[in-house]
Amino acid sequence: MAIPNDTTRRDFLISLVGAGAVLATRPPALGNTLSAQDMLPTRPIPGTEETLPIVGFGSSKPVLEIPTEGTEPVAGVIRMLLEHGGRVVDTSPRTPEIDEEFGQVLAAPEFSGRLFVSTKINTDGEASGIEQMRQNQRLVGGRTLDLLQVESMRDLDVHWPNVLRWKDSGEARYIGVTTSSTGQHDQFESFMRAEPLDFVQMNYSVMEPDAENRLLPLARDLGMGVLINRPFMNGSYFGRVSGRSLPEWASEFDCASWAQFSLKYILAHPAVTCALTETTNPAHMEDNIGAAFGRLPDEATKRRMRELVQDF
Ligand SMILES: NC(=O)c1ccc[n+]([C@@H]2O[C@H](COP(=O)([O-])OP(=O)(O)OC[C@H]3O[C@@H](n4cnc5c(N)ncnc54)[C@H](OP(=O)(O)O)[C@@H]3O)[C@@H](O)[C@H]2O)c1
Repeated sequence: MAIPNDTTRRDFLISLVGAGAVLATRPPALGNTLSAQDMLPTRPIPGTEETLPIVGFGSSKPVLEIPTEGTEPVAGVIRMLLEHGGRVVDTSPRTPEIDEEFGQVLAAPEFSGRLFVSTKINTDGEASGIEQMRQNQRLVGGRTLDLLQVESMRDLDVHWPNVLRWKDSGEARYIGVTTSSTGQHDQFESFMRAEPLDFVQMNYSVMEPDAENRLLPLARDLGMGVLINRPFMNGSYFGRVSGRSLPEWASEFDCASWAQFSLKYILAHPAVTCALTETTNPAHMEDNIGAAFGRLPDEATKRRMRELVQDF
């Protein structure tokens, strides 16, 4: 098998081994403090020479809180991500005022040109979709969008022809759709089979594993990049594991926290390109990045993980 020129040894190992993989990086010490040398592994965007770091940032909460909390929480989390080689930041159109402030963060010299920003359209009606496209472009300072997604398939038939056109015109490098609801997976699968998607974004975790039955294998077969949302079910996962100790066998795959327990479950799937984690806390982002280091669970261990949490 030929190794593409710009594929690092680490990317290559990941693409080869998939589930049950041993990431070619040393695990950080238990307790989660990463060293400055710990750089996130990357995986290829299928069909391209480009790679993405395997943990990213879902920015919804800290961006929505900009009016009350200011921009430092979102900047602090992005800073932590970049310090460890991360660069994927997922967002959706907010009020013009919020996106203007968030855009100023993204344009700061410390971040500018270093991020892969995935944007969305999440509205009804063509005119409103076009306006959101323009808002996305303003957010990233007028440059080509890295990834434009139709969120939750909302008014998809109306937006999709324009999304295809924006890719053709070079206004978006990659295009895709998202879902965060297992009840939408059948409709999502039909769309995946019908359209030329570069990326799909879906909910998947140790407590919401359904995507591994059909959507993730299909994405792999069709050569689509995969972003994962709801790794912690928007936080409700932590309520369910609260007060429980990690099983001793979590150390067998270098897992040091409940956050890493779900993230390592996700990252062990070979179709996953990048898991998005939402947080307002840089220390939590550091914990989440830590999931990308050391061993990942194999299939038998993943079954054990699912069985453990099903009664929580
Ligand atoms: N349809 C769609 O397209 C769609 C839908 C949903 C989400 N998304 C995307 O996915 C992203 C992720 O959102 P989500 O809803 O899926 O949220 P999530 O990442 O599953 O959970 C976020 C929650 O987990 C907590 N958390 C994160 N890391 C933690 C850690 N290490 N330890 C303890 N608590 C931790 C956060 O609290 P703290 O702030 O205290 O850390 C927050 O309450 C969104 O921002 C968005 O980009 C897309």
